[in-house]
Amino acid sequence: MSGADTSEQSVRVDREAAIAIVTVDRQDALNALDVATLTRLRDELVTLAADDAVRVVVLTGAGDRAFIAGADIKYMSGLGVDDATAWGSLGHDAGRLLETMPKPTIAAVNGFALGGGCELALACDIRYASSRAKLGQPEVNLGIIPGWGGTQRLARVCGIGVAKELIFTGRTVDAEEAVRIGLVNAVHDPVLDRARETAQLLATKSPVALRVMKRLANRALGGDHADNLVAEGESFGELFASEDAREGLAAFVEKREPKFVGR
Ligand code: CAA
Repeated sequence: MSGADTSEQSVRVDREAAIAIVTVDRQDALNALDVATLTRLRDELVTLAADDAVRVVVLTGAGDRAFIAGADIKYMSGLGVDDATAWGSLGHDAGRLLETMPKPTIAAVNGFALGGGCELALACDIRYASSRAKLGQPEVNLGIIPGWGGTQRLARVCGIGVAKELIFTGRTVDAEEAVRIGLVNAVHDPVLDRARETAQLLATKSPVALRVMKRLANRALGGDHADNLVAEGESFGELFASEDAREGLAAFVEKREPKFVGR
């Protein structure tokens, strides 16, 4: 995979106290992801995942037209099998980071979230949309399939019936339908304000509890249910060794606000 490296401008990370806002900015292509931009996005997510000072990550797109209009179709139109496989893997890496990093991730869908854009939003823990947002998996119209997790995560978020209809037809949904089918959690203008509000709330919660809850919730739709409950039971007990659990329980008893340190 190759491409001129314009990534420094095309992915911005703004720190607002414990919140990191990641903005994809390739507005002339409706924030579609080329190799340099997706590589940069993946690398920024690796850094944010490891940084304990960052408690919540918000992903959004620059401008008022698009979140991410998908993988760059012009780039993909020249790919053979090996490069396409590597391209799929790079998108999977970015999605897995959003899905598994040990802190909450929120998509602020401020416009088109199509193909890979919808897939990265689906990899986030929470999704909000602006009233002008349009989401979908139109890959079938290009003769390809969703390749950054869409065949799996759309079903996990919206149910298999809705997922099959959307990926088979390539139909896009507006914000109102997206909230109705559970594809987004809420619709709000400006959407970044809503994402920020939730991020600020989550930044006050125990990072330890959030990390463990996210790991367990990610198992909820897969694996063996009984095993997952055993894992929950073990984690519940282990958490009582953390400073955060002691602080949260003591704060309630002492009728004061808890102050969580993430240990
Ligand atoms: N890749 C590359 N360029 C894109 C793009 C994409 N995914 N989406 C939009 N653009 C570019 C357009 O080519 C256009 O550039 P030029 O001015 O140089 O021609 C610019 O962004 C503005 O787009 P339009 O003129 O098309 O704007 P519009 O308002 O008429 O239409 C749209 C907007 C409906 C989003 C339309 O651009 C569109 O259909 N885009 C493609 C969306 C799509 O199919 N995404 C999925 C890609 S496949 C994928 O992501 C695979 C995967 O699973 C990883």
